[in-house]
Amino acid sequence: MINKSLISINDYTKEEYLEILRVAAEFEKKPIQNIFEGRVVATLFFEPSTRTRLSFESAVNRLGGRIIGFTDASSSSVKKGESLKDTILTVSNYSDLIVMRHPLEGSARYASEVATVPIINAGDGANQHPTQCLLDLFSIQKTQGTLENLKISMVGDLKYGRTVHSLIMAMSHFNPTFNFISPDELKMPDEYKMFLDKKGIKYKEYSDLAGNIKDSDILYMTRVQGERFADPLDYEKVKNVYILKNRMLEKTKDNLKVLHPLPRVNEINTDVDDNHKAYYFPQALNGVYTRQAIMAKILGLK
Ligand code: CP
Repeated sequence: MINKSLISINDYTKEEYLEILRVAAEFEKKPIQNIFEGRVVATLFFEPSTRTRLSFESAVNRLGGRIIGFTDASSSSVKKGESLKDTILTVSNYSDLIVMRHPLEGSARYASEVATVPIINAGDGANQHPTQCLLDLFSIQKTQGTLENLKISMVGDLKYGRTVHSLIMAMSHFNPTFNFISPDELKMPDEYKMFLDKKGIKYKEYSDLAGNIKDSDILYMTRVQGERFADPLDYEKVKNVYILKNRMLEKTKDNLKVLHPLPRVNEINTDVDDNHKAYYFPQALNGVYTRQAIMAKILGLK
């Protein structure tokens, strides 16, 4: 993993996922250390973010490193017409590692091909969000005690949701069964279903939420991604299609945990927040430990 960019969850093997989770558990026990002293991490966010950017920055700060970067491309020379290549080559001179979020699918891979330091993809369009995926794996392993043989229901925007795309690929190593619950307009793309077919992994597709989560171990809710719709009227039709309410969890399994990469809009009612099955805020905290582990491995510090 040393000096290797992380662009897609498929860039790592199953053994490497498990090694990241092992190191993340170490950081959970001891999140404040000085092992990043003298290291500079650049965070280049061409798209909005709260959790990903701030958990990366918190992770670096707690390990004694320094952060540079921008949270809005309009405050950088991109505004003057600078290309992504020139931006990445320049920031490579100033940092040991670049964390980048960009709206264009494939932009992170391109950046990794021109950069002289490793790139971590913090989300590229509807494509991949591998660090979210690793923190999801950490959260699943921590709450279920295993990653093997779990039933995972994914709900909402399965078309544009990059977190679910990364997660089905990673979980495919652990013999899962999936329920895909979405409106017709937002179904899991064929390429991911073909991937599962090839691996012999079972999945079913549904449009009803309440009736199809009773035997799940993980309920992975997602936001309908308004920013990816070409026509705002299409977004209006589906934006509130699923709203998880506390009473819908009554007959679900005791070990069920509700995950959500956040931000949520309306898809989880706030009456779920105090249910012991709600895990989305601890999940966001796990992002700090998991990102500490990913960066420490890439920088060769663990
Ligand atoms: N989960 C996630 O990517 O959240 P942000 O968009 O706030 O970074």
